[in-house]
Amino acid sequence: MFRLLFISLLFPSALALNVPSITLKNAAVPGITMQAMGIGTFGYASHPGQKAEYWNNSVTATAVSAWLKAGGRRIDTAYDYRGEAGVGMAVLHQTEVHRSEIFITSKVGGLPPGYNDTLEQFQEILTQMNLTYVDLLLIHWPGPLPLKSSDPKCKLISGSDKECRQSSWLALEKIFKSGGAKAIGVSNFEQNHIQDILDLKSLVPSVNQIEYHPYWHEDGLVEFCQNHSIAVNSYAPLGTPDWGPDHRDWNSTILDLPVVKEIAKAHSKSPAQILLRWAWQKNILLNPRTWNDDHMAENLNIFDFELSDDEWKQIASVPKPATPKVCPDPHLIK
Ligand SMILES: NC(=O)c1ccc[n+]([C@@H]2O[C@H](COP(=O)([O-])OP(=O)(O)OC[C@H]3O[C@@H](n4cnc5c(N)ncnc54)[C@H](OP(=O)(O)O)[C@@H]3O)[C@@H](O)[C@H]2O)c1
Repeated sequence: MFRLLFISLLFPSALALNVPSITLKNAAVPGITMQAMGIGTFGYASHPGQKAEYWNNSVTATAVSAWLKAGGRRIDTAYDYRGEAGVGMAVLHQTEVHRSEIFITSKVGGLPPGYNDTLEQFQEILTQMNLTYVDLLLIHWPGPLPLKSSDPKCKLISGSDKECRQSSWLALEKIFKSGGAKAIGVSNFEQNHIQDILDLKSLVPSVNQIEYHPYWHEDGLVEFCQNHSIAVNSYAPLGTPDWGPDHRDWNSTILDLPVVKEIAKAHSKSPAQILLRWAWQKNILLNPRTWNDDHMAENLNIFDFELSDDEWKQIASVPKPATPKVCPDPHLIK
């Protein structure tokens, strides 16, 4: 016990040993693993009573540094986020954890910009972060796109965006094959969007990052992905509790639901830990955003207990608000 404490104090990274991983399949370097718990880096940061600000480079760098010290090894960012350079700063301005132990996900988009623009945007991602590769690169959104694209297949919104999705995917394949990303995947893709990629009869995505929490859980989509060996990564796993009431009709955040609080009490865990564990029990990877050290420690500590099937179902069947989704609904994308 004392030995473990001593090792943990000397090497905080030892704490990370308790975090399980999933081995990525499909378009991934053979054997590459992705830890169950990462940190998200898009959204707001605020102290009680103060105006919230976006996770800019400085907030992001501070949070990611703290995350690495706490034993976290995976970081989720995107071209579209305001703190991507901050991720690179935090990773490069520390010497305790080697880059090879850190797993960085980034995403091209906003929305898929097509073949050449994807390649260009990826170079910008590496330049912003001052890195030579990312571990996982995703297409952020299946389309359509208000972004300008030089790809004629990505003309704005007429019928289906299938060709544009496929074009962007082929650019990701090129990046993967040239070593710029150790794995490639998609985000916010529904079954029909994934089918468009499967129709190419080329590489299959290794990951699909989707919104997943008790108010919005597409279990059919999760099953479809897992049947195709596509790992599922949840975003907004806590339902983005700091997203203000102006944005939605929720009477309660998911963290405050009585059933979540009761189950938390029964397991001597926090409501956040119950929600994270709830998704992990379906093998869903997580990256809750936090800049709070205590929350980081909590989020890394969900692997020593289990929810019963009945508890899982109670949480899954909580009454849903009229607008249960945090982010826009990709079902609208054809
Ligand atoms: N692919 C996509 O389209 C997409 C879309 C949305 C998000 N994402 C990714 O997914 C990440 C997570 O989603 P999100 O940021 O929307 O929301 P989220 O992780 O569901 O919620 C973040 C909020 O939860 C709080 N929190 C975190 N851990 C907590 C704990 N243990 N106890 C209590 N509160 C806790 C944080 O506050 P404190 O800072 O005070 O802890 C913050 O206010 C994003 O940051 C981003 O990386 C991807």
